[in-house]
Parts: sequence; C-alpha cells; structure tokens
Amino acid sequence: MRIDVLTIFPDLFTGFLSTSIPAIAIEQGRISCHTHDIRAYAANKHRKVDDRPFGGGPGMVMMCQPIFDAVKAAESQDSELRAVRVLLTPQGERLTQPRVEWLAQQPRLTLLCGHYEGIDERVIEELKPLEISIGDYVLSGGELGAMVLIDAVARLQPGVLGHEESAAEDSFSVRSTDGAHLLDCPHYTRPREWNGREVPDILLSGDHAAVDRWRDAQRIERTRERRPDLLQNSPLAEAQPLPAANNNKPAAQVARANRSHASGEVGGLLGQTAPEGA
Ligand SMILES: C[S@@+](CC[C@H](N)C(=O)[O-])C[C@H]1O[C@@H](n2cnc3c(N)ncnc32)[C@H](O)[C@@H]1O
Repeated sequence: MRIDVLTIFPDLFTGFLSTSIPAIAIEQGRISCHTHDIRAYAANKHRKVDDRPFGGGPGMVMMCQPIFDAVKAAESQDSELRAVRVLLTPQGERLTQPRVEWLAQQPRLTLLCGHYEGIDERVIEELKPLEISIGDYVLSGGELGAMVLIDAVARLQPGVLGHEESAAEDSFSVRSTDGAHLLDCPHYTRPREWNGREVPDILLSGDHAAVDRWRDAQRIERTRERRPDLLQNSPLAEAQPLPAANNNKPAAQVARANRSHASGEVGGLLGQTAPEGA
C-alpha cells in the first residue's frame, strides 16, 4: 500500500514513521509512506498557504490552490495506483475498526491534513475526499489523525504484527457468532502474583479449550458492561450465565472460525468488508 500525506508540517512524521509498527510495515515493504509539504506547492512568492476568511471572523483558512496542486503532484507519482483520498476533519465520519479494515485493503491512500480554521470548502468539493474524524474533539491539525490512521492500517498489513492472531482478536475486530463487534479480554503476564493480586487460575490450567471459553466469556461480559452499544442488535445484550473459570460449559458465542488457533490455522481478519456507505 502506498500512502501520501499532505501537510504543512512534514517533519512531524519523521519520528513516527521510523518507530515501532509503522517502521516495521515500511521495512517489510507492506506500506510506503511519502510526505508532501503543501507549502512547496504554493504559487506565490512567500509560499503562503492560508488567508483570511471571507465574511470575516477569527483564524485563517487554507487556500485551494496549494492543496489542489499538492494532491495532483503526489498522485501523479505511481499514477497507476488509484488513491482513496481522505481528509482528516472533526466533521467527518468517526473512524471505526471496520473502516480501518476497509482502508487497509486499498492500494493507495492520500491523506490530507488541515490546519487553522480548516480548508476552503471549494477544494474539498473538487477533490471529493472521504472525510474522517478520529473523535469528537478538535485538534490543531490533521497530522495526528493521519498518524492514527497510518498506524491502524499498518498493523493490519499481513505479517506486520508478530502473530496474525493478535489483530484478529483485538477489540472491535473479534466478533460474536452473530456478528457483533466485541472488546478484547483481559491479559496477564508474569509474575503469577503481584501486589497480592493473582492471575485467574484458568489461565494456568494448561487447558486451552477452557482458556478459550473463559476469554470468550470475558469478551462478552466486558462488552456488555463497557460498550453495550456494540451489542444493540445482539441477543448477547441480555446477561446470560457465563462459564465459570474452571467448568466445561461451552461459550460458543465468539466467532471461532475467524480466529487463529493453536493448531496453526490462521483465520482471516474480521470485518474486512466495506463499511456501510463505503
Ligand atoms: C482547528 S481544526 C479546524 C476545526 C474546524 N474549524 C471545525 O470546527 O470543524 C484544524 C484541522 O485539524 C484537523 N482536525 C481537528 N480535529 C480533528 C479530528 N477530530 N479528527 C480529524 N482531524 C481533525 C483537521 O484537519 C482540521 O482541518
């Protein structure tokens, strides 16, 4: 996947792209990331990219010309790859895992980062980007949003995470058998006892099927408690007796076929279809 980022602060991406998962994805050739300084495309003597708003009011507005020319120049490279254009904006569709999974499958993304009061509406109409928000709050610029998106799609590229299963079993990817997105279960590591708190017995039992059932039950219970909205159309919304830590009652409510198993079978990532409206 090729990712082009259009920004007035390309330097912000230097550390980010050379660290952790994005760096691994780049090193493995799963993504290539190219930053473009919008300022370099400003067709005026002072490389000005913003101006005062028509109608008055506070702040500055990013001008059409530098953005339009920057997008065209970026997309003229490797032009055989058709780009999905994304504008980071608090007014966009709220980013969710199904949308990330869809974006992760595209051959190319062009990410447009706004600043100041935002971008002249006419260039948005002309470029017709998908408008994405990373949450209901306002940032100073789209760069952090672009980084969020790059990280989220990079970790879904095949082979980038150490274990394929770690993405498929994450919150919002793992699903119940009736298709509801679930939260992940709690995780524990050594030591077995810390500050008087013990690891649940079941995780030390060596009984992998029982561990699977316990984790499924935890996923469902956590989702019910913390994000009941995710279970709105699922029978799991109603509290049900969950398997106790050490019994053998099947949970069978989490979509096993879509997950990796100790046998080495690798399930496909969940939800890799276009979200509604995509
Ligand atoms: C200060 S904001 C502009 C906010 C705009 N006046 C509004 O109220 O909708 C400047 C830029 O930050 C980015 N931005 C701010 N909040 C964001 C969010 N929640 N998600 C994605 N991008 C955001 C956008 O690129 C935006 O153009």
